[in-house]
Amino acid sequence: MGSLLPLSLLILLVAAYPEGGRARRSRRALGAQGLALRGSSPAPFWVRLSPEFTAVPPGGSVWLNCSSSCPLPEVFRLHTLLLRGKTLSGRGWVAYQLLDLKAWSSDVHCFVTCAGETRGATARITTYKVPRSVILEPPVLVGSEYTLRCHVTHVFPVGLLVVTLRRGGRVIYSESLERFTRLDLANVTLTYVLSTEPRDSWLPVTCHARLNLDGLVIRSSSAPITLTAFAWHPASKALAFTSIAALVGILLVIGVAYLRKCLLTQSQT
Ligand SMILES: *[C@@H]1O[C@H](CO)[C@@H](O)[C@H](O)[C@H]1NC(C)=O
Ligand SMILES: *[C@@H]1O[C@H](CO)[C@@H](O)[C@H](O)[C@H]1NC(C)=O
Repeated sequence: MGSLLPLSLLILLVAAYPEGGRARRSRRALGAQGLALRGSSPAPFWVRLSPEFTAVPPGGSVWLNCSSSCPLPEVFRLHTLLLRGKTLSGRGWVAYQLLDLKAWSSDVHCFVTCAGETRGATARITTYKVPRSVILEPPVLVGSEYTLRCHVTHVFPVGLLVVTLRRGGRVIYSESLERFTRLDLANVTLTYVLSTEPRDSWLPVTCHARLNLDGLVIRSSSAPITLTAFAWHPASKALAFTSIAALVGILLVIGVAYLRKCLLTQSQT
């Protein structure tokens, strides 16, 4: 197989909300807050909010457990803008249910007061939507070049998505969409042009979408497509030995409706 050389990267739509990236980078720091807080109290105690990181499908719910080593906690308080459901409690802990999650990333804080001193812990909830489909179009052969188009539909959040093209298991191209941080469901189309030598044209090509949600990795793939079936053009042989070049582009189509609206219609899928 020849080498593949990306010539240019076409960004047709850039939606930059830098806060998203910053928030992700500071996640570890926030998670450690509960244990990092130290006071000069005569009875030191810790506060934990677990799980520290959760990823749920949009519209889903989650339970967060706030616990403390304080022998006689005076008060547990949960700070969040999310909708609350039921509450359960026991000795040294209170569990809170949060409902109808839709923000792509929310921080939730729990504060416990013990002997007049208050300490807190933070947890983060991320919302995601598994792609509805990952479709690799039948490649179009022009001269010695195949144009591959992969569509990833109804995915969220796009900023945590990586789209990869593989040929016979080998990665031929991979792109992370971390610069796209809008709060919408999106359709992503990756376009890749590759020249191919006839001897390896039988290798199947697949497209893979991967959502990296820290604790959780979600993968979807397209059906494999073989280039051979389309390699009928006589020019393909003549040009197959020249150097191999690739043109890559990402097209991102963002829903006009915000995620919340989309959920009403997409929750069945
Ligand atoms: C909450 O955490 C405490 C302390 O780890 C544990 O004993 C309790 O069973 C947990 N409650 C729920 C509902 O998970
Ligand atoms: C995404 O693709 C789906 C299916 O192809 C289509 O129904 C939907 O309208 C598209 N959404 C956007 C935001 O373009």
